[in-house]
Amino acid sequence: MSLSKKIGFLVSGRGSNMAAVLDEIAAGRLAAEARVVISDQPEAPALALAARRGLPTLALERQKFADRRAFETEIVRELRARGVELVVLAGFMRLAGPTLLAAFPDRIINIHPSLLPAFPGLRAQAQALARGVKLAGCTVHFVNEVIDGGRIIAQAAVKVRPDDTEETLSARILAREHRLLSRAIAEIV
Ligand code: GRF
Repeated sequence: MSLSKKIGFLVSGRGSNMAAVLDEIAAGRLAAEARVVISDQPEAPALALAARRGLPTLALERQKFADRRAFETEIVRELRARGVELVVLAGFMRLAGPTLLAAFPDRIINIHPSLLPAFPGLRAQAQALARGVKLAGCTVHFVNEVIDGGRIIAQAAVKVRPDDTEETLSARILAREHRLLSRAIAEIV
């Protein structure tokens, strides 16, 4: 029996990584339980996707709170209310602040579409192409106060093809992301 098996997702957009994890859980291949999905974007497709699968969902918009601390205090309250032990950032487009980090020390992970520590931040796949790397990939890591900066849990490499565009490379990396995130969660739980 492990400590970190009740998962809360933080999302901002599409939610394909979250869906891949939900598929693994549903198939009985990942001993974890999704408890809640929280988005900072009310229109995020990830929210509708989670709701269709019967999960509790919640939109919390940063601009409706006085400051980041108040915003994160509410996120923490909701996660705790659902008994969440592991927080998975799956396309959550915000830097975790001190309130969130302190509430879940070493219990927040993120997936990023590059072989960190190369290419943190936005449009990592375009950064990799611009630099001419021959190996790209994705990383699951613990979250700390540095953007895409925490300790690495798992990585997968993807060969860059000479004719790759940001779209084609992103699509191949994404396919690997979908497998990697569940694998990393399995390692943690
Ligand atoms: C993924 O590429 C992930 O690595 C990055 O944001 C994207 C989210 O995609 N952090 P999705 O919402 O999981 O489909």
